[in-house]
Amino acid sequence: MRKIALAMLLTLAPGAALAAAPAGDLMDARVDVSDEASLQRGAKLFANYCMGCHSAKFVRWNAMPDALGVPMETIEDNIIFGEYQAGDVIRAAMPADDAEEWFGVAPPDLSLTARSRGADWVYTYLNSYYRDPEASTGWNNLVLENSAMPHVLWRLQGVPEADYEETDDGVRVAGIRVPESAAGTMSEREYHQATRDITNFMAWMAEPARETRQTLGIWVIGFLIVFTGLAYLLKREYWRDIH
Ligand code: HEC
Repeated sequence: MRKIALAMLLTLAPGAALAAAPAGDLMDARVDVSDEASLQRGAKLFANYCMGCHSAKFVRWNAMPDALGVPMETIEDNIIFGEYQAGDVIRAAMPADDAEEWFGVAPPDLSLTARSRGADWVYTYLNSYYRDPEASTGWNNLVLENSAMPHVLWRLQGVPEADYEETDDGVRVAGIRVPESAAGTMSEREYHQATRDITNFMAWMAEPARETRQTLGIWVIGFLIVFTGLAYLLKREYWRDIH
């Protein structure tokens, strides 16, 4: 039995190892793609603040009602601006060539970013902007230095300022904070929630089947445990005859 237990542990171990990837200095996005209310808010924010520049070409509008728990009409009324056909994917409002000319870098497609960069990275990125008069956009970012993307959520967050400190390697940003005089329409807590919702929506985009897969995974592990028990009983039964 000890060997069986060991084998089971080995089967489960790779999953555990993946879940505990090193996070570095990133903030914890605590994504939960089964949280429909969060996905709804995230989709709306994404449509209003991100789709002007970014596409998400692997994501179809008609995959949303299921994930967000709302009828297609609600998606049409709140999230889709302009014409769309059933089965269309998310396109940027701005043509990529224009965007590249204006920003120097074409805004990347965001379908898979929550997977390639990681959800915590995306969440931290949206919380790491600060005003920088020397940067080309007037903004800088702690996780993506000199990002060609301006701080598109500044009206919500306010205008974060950097606290600089002298080190042996030169001046560096020790922290960022929004001064009271430059507050946005949201409190710090509300802004964290809003950026968490956007990140959650992007995590769903990057892997629309994740929720199904996780539920399925629990069933598979349950089956394996039951099967191991049965196999053990069967083995005992066989050996009884032989002894
Ligand atoms: C005004 C156009 C514009 C808008 C609006 C915009 N972005 Fe961007 N975004 C860009 C550009 C340009 C880049 C490329 C930055 C770079 O590489 O320096 C970028 C890069 C990114 C990246 C980094 C991707 C990577 O892997 O490097 C993320 C994540 C991102 N944007 C998320 C968002 C989200 C979320 C929103 C909505 C809240 C948004 N963007 C709105 C222009 C925009």
